[in-house]
Amino acid sequence: MTRQTMKRRLLEAAAAKGRGVLPSALFAAAECAPLSKTGGLADVAGALPAALIDLGFDCRVITPFHRAAKEKYGARTEHVCDFNIGLGWRSQYVGIEKLALGKTAIYLVDNEYYFGSSIYWGGADEGEQYAFFQRAVLEAMPRMGFIPDILHCNDWHTALMPMLIKAQYYGTPLGNVKTLLTIHNLHFQGKFDFQYIQGLLGLDGGLYSPRFMEAFGCANFLKSGCVFADGLSTVSPTYAREIQTPELGEGLEGIFHERQEGLKGILNGIDKRHFNPKTDSRIPARFSAADLSGKALCKTALLEELGLEPGFALGSDPGAESNRAAPVIGMVSRITAQKGFDLVLAALPGLIDLGYRVALLGAGDPELENAMRAAEAKYKGHVCAYIGYNEGLANRIYAGSDFFLMPSRFEPCGISQMLAMRYGTLPIVRETGGLVDTVTPYNQFTGEGTGFSFAGADADELYSACARAAAVYAEKEVMEKLIQNAMAMDFGFTGPAYEYGMEYIEIL
Ligand code: ADP
Ligand code: GLC
Repeated sequence: MTRQTMKRRLLEAAAAKGRGVLPSALFAAAECAPLSKTGGLADVAGALPAALIDLGFDCRVITPFHRAAKEKYGARTEHVCDFNIGLGWRSQYVGIEKLALGKTAIYLVDNEYYFGSSIYWGGADEGEQYAFFQRAVLEAMPRMGFIPDILHCNDWHTALMPMLIKAQYYGTPLGNVKTLLTIHNLHFQGKFDFQYIQGLLGLDGGLYSPRFMEAFGCANFLKSGCVFADGLSTVSPTYAREIQTPELGEGLEGIFHERQEGLKGILNGIDKRHFNPKTDSRIPARFSAADLSGKALCKTALLEELGLEPGFALGSDPGAESNRAAPVIGMVSRITAQKGFDLVLAALPGLIDLGYRVALLGAGDPELENAMRAAEAKYKGHVCAYIGYNEGLANRIYAGSDFFLMPSRFEPCGISQMLAMRYGTLPIVRETGGLVDTVTPYNQFTGEGTGFSFAGADADELYSACARAAAVYAEKEVMEKLIQNAMAMDFGFTGPAYEYGMEYIEIL
């Protein structure tokens, strides 16, 4: 469908609801690229609103003015307003700054105490950090002169607002705002002591009921959103089905099952302008599907940067002219149990035997970080574990690797595997969530495929998939065909934005 057709259909759908124009939307998220980022939520907040704007929506963003954002963009913001809000017994300052980034207007909620350190405080205080954010967003809307038709909430940090609007803003202009809650990661729900949250936000005691926000003895931010939001979505069709099961429903499967009719699974996209191997200035050489010579340079440079020995592909003759360097598996990831690092560690000796070099970039769980550091020490020259957050290196890994490993135990969508394909790097993924919806496993009979996959969360299965990938790497022509297939995939945000737009209209 062309963008023109999408626009026409959206306007027709709005007209069917008695609207002459498309609804306006405020997109609220705890992080937003390129201002602040720990993972894929920021990628979505940075790219989806712009795609909605391209379809004709007045979509703006609201996000905390985190320290990282202030350092990078502080000089470019414009002061909109400031006021104080009550949070428990305290009165807290809220500044609203505005930043124009491309076509997108981003409102930044400023408060040194809540957003002057890390994006997520962790622990019980994080409840206060994001209770503050949500009260600030609600109180800011009338003051900044933008009360949208749709408030688009994302994850638990913004999931209380649908309930607050219905319970506390009824009869005010905010009471008419419709809400869509998108779940990016069900594992994090924002579970806190009810009295603590009640004290901060003045909640009615009746809300602490299993019908509303109580779950397993806690006040649950995400659950409240799942109950009260007018629309509910998650970030891939497969994950939308999986969260209705006890295995991946994280205790909330009953609600998803009940709301299954309205629960949308809208696949994420990527920011194709920001992540483009033809123009990316953070990689050592540019390349395209038509000319991959730059990708080979990126690989050589990556091996050197990370202190990895080039070696030779298993089975290749070091004397022959056609010999090739060892295959490189890249990983760029938050280091958490979700991402299957335990499987990687268990399979690592086998991957080394297959002749792989492993380039890992990530940060997170200290125990897993240490285990990765130990693996680097043990397999010096074969494994590099760069512990930290580094966007430039991330792109150099996407560009310079042959394969990209994502053995997730669950994966709502996953952005990284799409970025890897964009840079001609074949994903090796576990068949879960959005990884199923975005990666087509190589079929040796038809020649189709954009990567490799395995079903069980099991180190042997991971190893077998990597062995299949190594065999393909040895057949240069097949490998090149798969790279072409992967780079031909269009993971832009226009299609997803159209689906979100239709959802906005549906819940009006
Ligand atoms: P998740 O949101 O679960 O972390 P996604 O695959 O959806 O996983 O998105 C991860 C995003 O964060 C990608 O853009 C990836 O490049 C980026 N990323 C993750 N870890 C790092 C890191 N250590 N350094 C730089 N970028 C990272
Ligand atoms: C979450 C999920 C990831 C998804 C991202 C953006 O962090 O873990 O799968 O791609 O959000 O929606």
